Amino acid sequence: MHSIKPVPERELSLEFLSVVETAAIAAARTMGQGERKYSDYVAVEAMRQVLDAVPIRGTIVIGEGERDEAPMLYIGEKVGLGHDDPGKSSAFPEVDIAVDPLEGTNLCATGVPNAVAVIAAAEKGGLRGAPDTYMEKIVVGPGCAAGLDIDAPVKDNLKLIARTLARAVEDLVVVVLDRPRHEKLIADIRKAGARIRLIGDGDLSAGISAAVSGTDVHAVMGIGGAPEGVLVAAALRCLNGEIIARFAPRKPEEVERMQAMGIKDPKQIFTTRELAPGENIIFAAGGVTDGTLLKGVRFGRDGKRTHSLVTTYSHNRHQVRFIDTIHVEGGAGTWVRL
Ligand code: FBP
Repeated sequence: MHSIKPVPERELSLEFLSVVETAAIAAARTMGQGERKYSDYVAVEAMRQVLDAVPIRGTIVIGEGERDEAPMLYIGEKVGLGHDDPGKSSAFPEVDIAVDPLEGTNLCATGVPNAVAVIAAAEKGGLRGAPDTYMEKIVVGPGCAAGLDIDAPVKDNLKLIARTLARAVEDLVVVVLDRPRHEKLIADIRKAGARIRLIGDGDLSAGISAAVSGTDVHAVMGIGGAPEGVLVAAALRCLNGEIIARFAPRKPEEVERMQAMGIKDPKQIFTTRELAPGENIIFAAGGVTDGTLLKGVRFGRDGKRTHSLVTTYSHNRHQVRFIDTIHVEGGAGTWVRL
């Protein structure tokens, strides 16, 4: 089993903190400007730049798309300090990287909650590659996946989740992307009696919330992006949450792409561990706009303030840090404010 040593995970997690902080700051500057592509562009550029100072030999396995459609952070791109320095590279660990520099481009462009900048890293092979297609998902918190079946009636799955959480189905909150494709799912959840939070975008940050007690999110259900599915699996490995997922390709080319990535059976059901099998995982998310878990970036007279989640999993040891960083920019005499 490979490790992402020799650089200790603790040091790397601080490097990845800086990666998401920088991307979050860049994106947050464009909040509410109504230019989702531009918001994404500045986040990608900022993330790419900081990633190159991280002491790793990184390979992007989940990124902005295929090489011919994304100029930066494309699948297969080499990143990190060791990427073009063969002389020194053996000093740096080989790491697979999944990124979403701005998850919720519309959320940022319209200034609504839960836009985040995200990165996950693991030893080689520790994160499943996924094409840019859809994925059917059920995301729940620790212990809640037992007995869940992606093909079972929604009411049966909700009963199981409610039983594990020692509450009534009526007390559950299920997050669902507000899309026409979810008409039946929404009707079924309503019929079962659970409460629903419809979101415009951002099933990745909703999935992370499902694994954190106190967020009032008990499950995320429905079809969203497959890359977001792998990223949330990486976060869930660190937080003990669970995802059950199945790719939902829209066209034959996507099935071909899945097969090229080693997914022979397009109907295969994946568990958290199958999507993010690593034994050393680091996941970091930086708040761009205010959200359920993280505050957005605040800009002030004396600098900026960011709020991030950095969580690690290493051979059954979990660490979860919420980090409030004040990036002091004033000169002498500048106050740090609480
Ligand atoms: P972007 O960050 O690319 O804008 O994606 C946001 C998102 O809402 C994801 O959270 C979700 O998984 C996916 O898009 C859903 O896709 P679609 O908008 O096509 O339904």
